Amino acid sequence: MERSKNLSDTDDCQAPGAFSGYGLHWDLLEDMTDEVSEVFGRELAPTYDYSRIYIPGNDLKRHSDRPSCECSVTLNLRNIGSPWEFFWEDGSFVMEPGDLVAYRGCEVEHWREVNPSSYVYQVFLHYVDVNGPNAGHANEYMSEKYRENRWLDF
Ligand SMILES: [Fe+2]
Repeated sequence: MERSKNLSDTDDCQAPGAFSGYGLHWDLLEDMTDEVSEVFGRELAPTYDYSRIYIPGNDLKRHSDRPSCECSVTLNLRNIGSPWEFFWEDGSFVMEPGDLVAYRGCEVEHWREVNPSSYVYQVFLHYVDVNGPNAGHANEYMSEKYRENRWLDF
């Protein structure tokens, strides 16, 4: 196993300055497929996983997601400091470690204000409807493009 990217790589325009990368939790992405399908009430296929470590001063710009993110979850694995609120167009949720928010990232804009914590580890798992218009994005995480950009090469 070889690390293909440095943790100091910060070319993430949605959260400038945060540490981020693809493919660290591909196993969780696969394992959660049935549970996330049940939450959304449709048969889903995984597209890719993405992880971010937010440090003090980071935020998440208001945005919507690309078609690969038709049905998504954001999962807080660790927060050292204060719980941090996740906003979408008509609501918000204060996330603590172990909390997960499921959302339709292509349809609903979402964001975070400035991080109040010293460390927040967030994992994003993205899926598409196997019977929907974005089905062609299924299994992107297995493609060469994603292999080149993930933190770990295995
Ligand atoms: Fe997003």
